[in-house]
Amino acid sequence: MTELSMKKNVSIQEQPEEERESVFEAQGVNLWYGQTQALHNIHLKQREQEVTAVIGPSGCGKSTYLKTLNRMVEMNPEVRISGNISYRGRNIFSRRFPVEELRTRVGMVFQKPNPFPKSVFENVAYGPKIHGIRDKQLLEQIVEESLKGAAIWEEVKDRLHENAFGLSGGQQQRLCIARCLAVEPDVILMDEPTSALDPKSTMKVEELVRELKETYSIMIVTHNMQQAARISDRTAFFLNGEVVECDTTDRIFSNPSDDRTEDYITGRFG
Ligand SMILES: Nc1ncnc2c1ncn2[C@@H]1O[C@H](COP(=O)(O)OP(=O)(O)OP(=O)(O)O)[C@@H](O)[C@H]1O
Ligand SMILES: [Mg+2]
Repeated sequence: MTELSMKKNVSIQEQPEEERESVFEAQGVNLWYGQTQALHNIHLKQREQEVTAVIGPSGCGKSTYLKTLNRMVEMNPEVRISGNISYRGRNIFSRRFPVEELRTRVGMVFQKPNPFPKSVFENVAYGPKIHGIRDKQLLEQIVEESLKGAAIWEEVKDRLHENAFGLSGGQQQRLCIARCLAVEPDVILMDEPTSALDPKSTMKVEELVRELKETYSIMIVTHNMQQAARISDRTAFFLNGEVVECDTTDRIFSNPSDDRTEDYITGRFG
């Protein structure tokens, strides 16, 4: 083997880890709520077509980190942030990056399903309408595709004009995912999206996450270690506002490099 082809081999073997493009890259991010520091020097990459699980005990900063990525956290006037976060190479804090654009690219799904008090159809059509889409046929098409994408179309296609509050919790959560897909995001942030759901609905959402990662980059907060192991490619372990480690999910769960990670995933605390 020539030196060149050997080098090539090496780089091919190393590729799976680093090959995918970063979608988000946080560098040295600190965040304070008033006097209280909630994030400490976060360095974290999120890659495309991957699911990144965020785990860690209550109060360690998981939700804060997610809300920092789409700048929702800054709705709180007490919040102060230092450090850098880039989204596809663009500084999210730059004045040249309108926050509305960021939030269109970066959708969010919350712990409790939060449909609007409107029909199933209007819940999904809401975002596209805000973006100026008025054409009825096009809206119908977007609604159908989004509901299909969120694996809920078959269950609601005959009740599109009923109030979304009439759906089950699991259906409402998938409706919220459909609402998020309707504006064609690039990244989906999910903050404990299954913690209010029964096991069957949880499985449906997990299956959906596995399908969606072909198209989207997903970051999901979970307290459920089995869930993190089942659905994520990478796992970031947060503790007291710091990232203790972020690695492939296989490694985090089989051979973490920090004792605190091992203690947490084996249930010794948290
Ligand atoms: N609006 C706020 N004002 C002041 N402190 C806050 C606020 N929101 C969160 N915090 C604090 O920031 C820290 C991180 O909170 P965060 O909600 O991000 O934790 P979490 O990891 O999501 O926890 P959980 O697993 O319970 O959801 C906590 O100490 C919390 O008390
Ligand atoms: Mg939280």
